[in-house]
Amino acid sequence: MCGIVGIVGSRPVAPLIVDALKRLEYRGYDSAGVATLEGEILDRRRAEGKLINLETRLNASPLSGNIGIGHTRWATHGAPVEVNAHPHFSSNVAVVHNGIIENFRELRQALEGDGFTFTSQTDTEVIAHLVAKGLRDGLEPIEAAHSAITQLHGAFALAIMFGTEADLIVAGRNGPPLAIGHGEGEMYLGSDAVALAPFTDRITYLEDGDWVVIRRNAMTIYNLKGVEVNRDEQKSIGSALMVDKGNHRHFMLKEIYEQPEVIGHTLANYIDFNGDKIALRDMGDNQNPLDFANLDRLNITACGTAYLAGYTSKYWFERHARLPVDIDVASEFRYREVPMSEKGMSLFISQSGETADTLAGLKYCEQAGQHLAAIVNVRESTIARSSHNVFPTLAGPEIGVASTKAFTCQLSVLASLAVGAGVQRGHISREQEIKLVRELSEAPRYANDVLKLEDSIKALAHTLANKEHVLYLGRDTNYPLAMEGALKLKELSYIHAEAYAAGELKHGPIALIDEEMPVVVIAPYDRIFEKTVSNMQEVAARGGQIILITDPRGAQEAGMDGIKTIIMPEMPEIITPIIYSLPIQMLAYHTAVHVGTDVDQPRNLAKSVTVE
Ligand code: M6R
Repeated sequence: MCGIVGIVGSRPVAPLIVDALKRLEYRGYDSAGVATLEGEILDRRRAEGKLINLETRLNASPLSGNIGIGHTRWATHGAPVEVNAHPHFSSNVAVVHNGIIENFRELRQALEGDGFTFTSQTDTEVIAHLVAKGLRDGLEPIEAAHSAITQLHGAFALAIMFGTEADLIVAGRNGPPLAIGHGEGEMYLGSDAVALAPFTDRITYLEDGDWVVIRRNAMTIYNLKGVEVNRDEQKSIGSALMVDKGNHRHFMLKEIYEQPEVIGHTLANYIDFNGDKIALRDMGDNQNPLDFANLDRLNITACGTAYLAGYTSKYWFERHARLPVDIDVASEFRYREVPMSEKGMSLFISQSGETADTLAGLKYCEQAGQHLAAIVNVRESTIARSSHNVFPTLAGPEIGVASTKAFTCQLSVLASLAVGAGVQRGHISREQEIKLVRELSEAPRYANDVLKLEDSIKALAHTLANKEHVLYLGRDTNYPLAMEGALKLKELSYIHAEAYAAGELKHGPIALIDEEMPVVVIAPYDRIFEKTVSNMQEVAARGGQIILITDPRGAQEAGMDGIKTIIMPEMPEIITPIIYSLPIQMLAYHTAVHVGTDVDQPRNLAKSVTVE
């Protein structure tokens, strides 16, 4: 998604803005731009593609000026070409924007009627013209900015600069987040605190509906009604976090390798290892403590990989806690008119905590009076702040667009919650709790062992790189994991992949099987292993090329010569979805590297999807 940066500084800001934009690259973008104020002239440089193109422009034709705004654009309205890149100008006004202005057509029509000429296909340009119109109508810059913001419908975060004001940026949010950074004689703004980490760790987050007047030495925040409000300054951990690749070729690989550690950190937050028991800590509103014993239904809502973490947990909650679970992709959930149970709870899972579809689902449940819980990786996020109970994952910043460590940390939280729910609901005895807790605590060690399989997985990945289609099969918790495998392969390598519940294959998709079709089968040796092997034999009989991910017992019992295998260590059943995620991720990663795609920022994708 688009990234925003602004600096009211005391030194030339263009290079600083580009530096901050680089820290927002992980969000995904397809063009970028910077505008600064030089004397009384607003000037800008914009470029299609990666920031390196913008830097080349800036090197050839530098921008001076101590105040500026910058942007990375993920195209929504209009192609990713220079003319649509931000900042957008209207006479003496420059604007950068993240989100969608839903009423831009009406506004554009009216502005064109008022004599304004549009030079782009974007929704953003209406904002620049609206502000310029306010100025033309005699408003002061701050009034004109506020007036424009109040005319916008939709989800947006934006920043506005004026050719007449060397000490003023006005910014606002309605949906996507905005962080204000406090410096010494300089103020900053950014789409997140990570962008501002080189400059400051003193951060104030705007709340929904807030808009802010930023000057070199001060800022004033107002709410939607124009009333001055106080928002706390926080010490961000963004600056303490490493946002580089270390020795790894890609952020994704680094994040895959971080998993033993971050799974351990995350589990330690929910498990009392000394007492061998689940200790469900949350950082939410303690007025509404979470009590699984009184629930009669849990509905889980999320998108993409987070949805698949939720899907996995449906098996855990139903099996270990006898708690019925509905699981929905967020974009479908809110339009499904779901009847809500008075004793139900709604759980939202999101790495970023800002995903617009998931947030919309949360608002729907809030209106229905549901108890709201969230699993997020970004603690300051909107979803976290809107929930009664918050269960953070401790994955650290995830920069690769493909979710890896956030997924396994979500699974770690969900497994802990499911066991905790089982205990609270009286379906897990103390003896079983001790066993399950000890099994969960083994997850980091197994994850570490599995990372050693990378070379053999890499060799298998090369056999996928020239394929057009790949199927993934699994049963039980390995079915959502099969879906995650297919999602990872698609988004990273652009190879078409589909996942099926292994038993479903014979009901149609088996027609796809021929000698050209690779089929990845996820099947640890467990109580349903035999059933999965039967499905695998159906594939083999039709010439399909099987890659079996199993353990030594599974490899032996499968009794099939000539199939490719990834042999995992034998491990307790409850942690298999967490640990089997790693070969799935490495397979997709190495296939993509071999194909030659942009692993950390696959085409068309954004890290944080703040539009519906
Ligand atoms: O930030 P969120 O967890 O809410 O994001 C949800 C999805 O957009 C995300 O998981 C997406 O599917 C990933 N790119 C998958 O790797």
